[in-house]
Amino acid sequence: MAKTIIVSNRLPISLRHRNGKFEFKPSAGGLATGLDSIYKSGENIWIGWPGNTVDDAEQRAEIIIELHDLKMAPVFLTKKDVEQFYEGFSNETLWPAFHYFTQYMVYNPDHWDAYVRVNQKFCEAIIKKADPDDTIWVHDYQLMLLPQMLREILPDATIAFFQHIPFPSYEIIRMIPWRKEILEGVCGADLIGFHTYDDMRHFLSAVSRITGMSGESGYIQAENRIINVDSFPMGIDYNKFAKQAKSRKTQNIVKDFRTKVGEQKLIITIDRLDYSKGIPQRIHVFDQLLKQHKELRGKVSMIMIVVPSRDRVQSYKELKEEIDLLVGRINSEYSTLDWVPVHYFYRSFPFEELSAFYSMADIALVTPLRDGMNLVCKEFVASKTDQTGVLVLSEMAGASKELQDAILVNPNDRQGVVDAIYEALSMPEEEQKERITAMQESLKKYDVFQWVKVFMDRIEHVKGKQAELT
Ligand code: UDP
Ligand code: G6P
Repeated sequence: MAKTIIVSNRLPISLRHRNGKFEFKPSAGGLATGLDSIYKSGENIWIGWPGNTVDDAEQRAEIIIELHDLKMAPVFLTKKDVEQFYEGFSNETLWPAFHYFTQYMVYNPDHWDAYVRVNQKFCEAIIKKADPDDTIWVHDYQLMLLPQMLREILPDATIAFFQHIPFPSYEIIRMIPWRKEILEGVCGADLIGFHTYDDMRHFLSAVSRITGMSGESGYIQAENRIINVDSFPMGIDYNKFAKQAKSRKTQNIVKDFRTKVGEQKLIITIDRLDYSKGIPQRIHVFDQLLKQHKELRGKVSMIMIVVPSRDRVQSYKELKEEIDLLVGRINSEYSTLDWVPVHYFYRSFPFEELSAFYSMADIALVTPLRDGMNLVCKEFVASKTDQTGVLVLSEMAGASKELQDAILVNPNDRQGVVDAIYEALSMPEEEQKERITAMQESLKKYDVFQWVKVFMDRIEHVKGKQAELT
């Protein structure tokens, strides 16, 4: 039976060293959490990096067996690969470029060589597992050369690529010295997907200007193939979040948390540690809110969850220090014996507790400066089972294109965000319910299963069209 091979740099579980042993922990980040619900069906498998270096051959063999039972296959990266491919080219060149943080971009030819080398390593791992009828679905910016590498070895294979982060304007892409190789790499796929229409448009324009291949109405004409490019906004496993929020376990946690924080209003913010998420800016906003509306002091707190991420990359290290400083400053300025403005957690939480935070929050403040999609805001909406609550959402997040019933803000407009929070705090319950209900309807309909179905149907359509043309 034909299977789908999902390929991403990070597997949905990550290995952790603990007391000389390894243990598995669920991975954070939208790609891993979003696809987690779908790879388990049929003969499908997920190939990727288990998130830690393993040098010992015996340990590697054990991990391969354990992952096999979980329908995963590891690609082991060396310490050098991690430094140059993962931290280096992926997260110090592509990530900042694609999120418009050009000031953080590093141009290092050794990092580029490592990017080529590791993409090749993934290619070899896939070839070992792939049968001719399989669909190989490659995910995200760490593996942009892989579709073309696979195509060279398997010219008739069905290969798809999905990018989970923004695709920037040509003006940014052209800054990368290896731009042509990257675009040609992606164009090894039959179908290329993005979260939004704008990302897709930017990609098509970069392809035609940099590679010279022509692209019209979402089709690129390659030498001997057509390639389809389109937007497919990713959904969440809606029922999983709605069901968990209603569960006795989560509701008991909510009760417990409530007893601890009291009756004040709660604003939740949840992000990986990342400069694209606008975390320091958000603390400044909250500070300004408390300055301008003194009556809110003691009545509203922000619960800020920052999930550790890429903490060996310099810009992330500096960001962590900045956040620590700002939280210290705001808390020391306003705290009283029975109230703290910001409850700050630098760690990840188990699913039930995450669900409790979503469920009990009055407001979710999701204000990235740039975000491909952002699943946190969708998870918050799905968890509001009594339909009360308000979402304040950045118009720079891909999700804002769908969630028009949120209060949409420009994250660079500090006063605008302060006013939006104030509006959210004063919003009548009836209006909250109308807005949440409207957003829930659309998230329920376009959930992650629908997303996969639409994408898979499209692959079949593209293959049919290619066959007609040959
Ligand atoms: N998340 C998690 N553990 C936590 C906090 C968050 O697994 O303790 C998840 C969250 O539920 C969401 C993902 O991390 O699914 C973040 O995805 P998002 O698209 O918002 O941002 P990304 O991290 O992909 O940039
Ligand atoms: C985003 C990216 C993913 C990445 C995740 C976590 O969601 O789109 O590709 O896996 O962040 O980042 P990390 O560097 O820890 O894999």
